[in-house]
Amino acid sequence: MTVTIRPSRPSDYQLVISVIDDWWNGRHMADMLPRLFFDHFADTCFVAERDGELAGFLVGFISQSRPAQAYIHFSGIHPAERGRGLGRRLYERFFEAARARDCELVRAVTSPVNTGSVMFHRRMGFAVEPGDAQVDGIPVTAGYDGAGQDRVRFVRRLGVTDQPDFGTMRLPDAAHVVAPDGSDVRILLRLGRRGGMAHFELGAGRVSRAVAHHTVAEIWYILRGHGQMWRRQAKHEQGEQGEQGEQREQREQTVDLSPRVCVSIPAGTHFQFRAGSDGPLAAIGVTMPPWPGADEAYEVPGAWPADP
Ligand SMILES: CC(C)(COP(=O)(O)OP(=O)(O)OC[C@H]1O[C@@H](n2cnc3c(N)ncnc32)[C@H](O)[C@@H]1OP(=O)(O)O)[C@@H](O)C(=O)NCCC(=O)NCCS
Repeated sequence: MTVTIRPSRPSDYQLVISVIDDWWNGRHMADMLPRLFFDHFADTCFVAERDGELAGFLVGFISQSRPAQAYIHFSGIHPAERGRGLGRRLYERFFEAARARDCELVRAVTSPVNTGSVMFHRRMGFAVEPGDAQVDGIPVTAGYDGAGQDRVRFVRRLGVTDQPDFGTMRLPDAAHVVAPDGSDVRILLRLGRRGGMAHFELGAGRVSRAVAHHTVAEIWYILRGHGQMWRRQAKHEQGEQGEQGEQREQREQTVDLSPRVCVSIPAGTHFQFRAGSDGPLAAIGVTMPPWPGADEAYEVPGAWPADP
């Protein structure tokens, strides 16, 4: 099985905290990773799994004080999974999430003793920031995290351009991919990290899989065909948002789809759609931010039995 990467959930915390001292060669690290990251920064923290087992994780966030900056607080890879590019994949997934939130650079720090981490960050394109001391030729900021807690500070620009080129294209003849919901997708243009557009088509009489998106919101406009869309905004699961978690009323709705109808799908909405027997259902959809990757959608229980 391949390793999959998904946004973290609060329930991942116990497992991560139980392995990190081992993964850091017995150094006592667990105190530096409180649960708050998994409760309040879950969509910029990622978990890698092989066959459902924890293979790695990354804990990061967007700076509240400096919104153009993102910060990686912790990342670890299972010792048996190291050296195969998984650390790179997790970092790149975080860079993508940071770009989608308009960040220009990413920062991180590490202890001077963690020479593996220093090498890894350099390979990942980070520069070491100037310090006031040197350890084995590496600039170190003395006492950065308090007395005796020296750190190597890293920074990496994300290479975001604020002025993307003009784009022009025609609808491709063939579909590029099958979406997680089962529809055929032709990918249209995207504007940097702000949004993208795609054309969706579901064959006559077909029923999509019911899915929800972790972070992406969409607006669809129906071009041709007839059908229905079911949408439900799930209540937050007890425990996942904590006791203080906002409890929203559950909303559920099924609407008819036909040309000139426009529907919105806020992030987290459970949705499913089906095409009438008179012909395929085709729509264009705006995706905000642009589609980040295969792990973005997850299956949920739907309104109708989906096609196999
Ligand atoms: C540091 C760590 C996250 C790297 O993860 P990984 O999956 O082994 O790294 P990758 O295989 O993706 O390597 C990415 C690049 O970094 C380089 N690299 C990784 N670890 C390295 C090391 N110890 N020494 C030198 N280079 C290293 C790789 O050669 C690779 O280079 P390339 O892609 O240019 O060929 C992992 O070793 C780990 O979990 N260490 C313990 C925890 C830790 O120190 N975390 C530091 C961040 S808080």
